[in-house]
Order: sequence, then C-alpha cells, then structure tokens
Amino acid sequence: MPVVRANGIDQHVLVQGEGPAILFVHGFPLDHTMWRWQYGRFTRSHRVIAPDLRGFGKTPPGDAPASMELYADDLAALLDELNIAEPVVLCGLSMGGYVAWQFIRRHGHRLAGLVLCDTRAAADTPEIKETRGQLAEHVLASGTATLAESIPEKLFSEVTREKQPQLLEETKRVILKTPPEGVAAAARAMAARPDMNDLLPAIDVPTLVVVGADDRLSPPAEMRQLAAAIPAAEFVEIDNAGHMTPLEASAKFNLVMQQFLDQVPAR
Ligand code: MLT
Repeated sequence: MPVVRANGIDQHVLVQGEGPAILFVHGFPLDHTMWRWQYGRFTRSHRVIAPDLRGFGKTPPGDAPASMELYADDLAALLDELNIAEPVVLCGLSMGGYVAWQFIRRHGHRLAGLVLCDTRAAADTPEIKETRGQLAEHVLASGTATLAESIPEKLFSEVTREKQPQLLEETKRVILKTPPEGVAAAARAMAARPDMNDLLPAIDVPTLVVVGADDRLSPPAEMRQLAAAIPAAEFVEIDNAGHMTPLEASAKFNLVMQQFLDQVPAR
C-alpha cells in the first residue's frame, strides 16, 4: 500500500482506479480495510482513496494532538499530495462522519458529494465522554485486547453475528493490531468534538445518508432527523445491518451508493 507524506505524517493509503475521486474515511477503531467490499465495485468508475487515519492501521499517530479537525486536515493534505484538485465524494462511517463535518467546515470547496454512514451530529453526553476517557487510559495501560473482544458485538447486527461471523473475527484482528496510542488519541478527540447540528442546513452538496436498521450506536431515528436537516439529502435505511452497513450489507449498500454517484454532478 502506498505511503504518502502529508501534513507531517506518513499516511498509508489505498489508491485504486481512475475517474472522479471517492475518499473513504473509516470508523473507530478500524482501518481502511472496512471498505474492502467497496474498492472493487467503485474502482470500475472512480478513483478510490482509502487512507488509514493517523494512529490507525499502518499510519503512525504523529506528534500533534488528535482532533476531528486534524484528521480532516490530514485528508485535505493527502488529496494535495495525490494531485487531486477536483472535488471529491467523501464517504465516512461513524467517526469518519465526525471527520466529514470538519472537512466540510474547513475544506468544503473540495466536496462534490457526501455519503454519511451510521454517524451522528450530536456531541457526546458527559457519560460517554467519561467512558471515552476511561477507555483511553485502559488501552494505554493494557493494550487493545479487551476492546477487540467487546466492541464487535456492538458494531454488528444480530443477523450478521449469526450469518457472517467472520466479519466479527476480522474486525477483532484489525483492532488487536491498532496502536493503543492511536485508539486513546481518537477516543479523547471524539469526546472533545463539538455538536455539529448547526452545520447541517448549510451543507450544499448532494448527500446520501445511510444507516443499518439495527444500528444501536447511531440509531435510524436519529439519522433520519440528521438527513432531514440537510437540504439535498437522501435517507436510506438498510435491513439486517447494524453499525457497519457497508460491510454487513455490502451488495445493497453498493447499489444505493452507485445510484447516488450516478446523480452527483461534477462540480
Ligand atoms: C465508530 O464506529 O467510529 C464509533 O462508533 C464512533 C463512536 O464511538 O462514537
């Protein structure tokens, strides 16, 4: 996988295909491989760019304190280094969506469209902030093994857990390999992120909002509201998927995303 020096760190990034660019931004505490069912499909018509955010996968955490803003700036610098000046479709899942909000604020002119999967605009509650702080301390002291055991149950739907248990195993392996420093930094950064609901009415690019019907972390009712606040948003709920819709229901997700991409005008 190519390594691109951008914004002061060596970013590991999958770059495949030719055409308008799609920038895939993974969730927490994962890496670019969560988009593996999307690469093949969309490289037929698009240039697929799927980085490991700093502190995840093979990209080192770097020295700067992590924040959703910093991850967004990393992505903009990555596009510069890849000589991608034309606007891109940014597709982010969960934490990838939190990064997308900051990309819109800071680099909005670089967007042709948005795909927001299983994410939230609200800031954390005080309880969640506290849990994130405890998680950061735990992984720094003891590594990511406990997280790797506990989190996949929460990410996937019951149907996926029964019918595609390999997805849970693969996800555990990714989390076990994730550097504790990266997980801790991201957990603290998510706790510090602002509420972004005020941004939604100002989003001026075609937007697709996708959620798994069984997502317990970013529930469909909340995502429906989020979509309703974005002027040009389409909302799609996909059955039998939890929080990891593009992985759990890849065929349906890809179909919906392809239909959306067919309508995104070049900017
Ligand atoms: C994710 O999938 O990125 C996480 O669920 C985000 C979060 O913990 O808020």
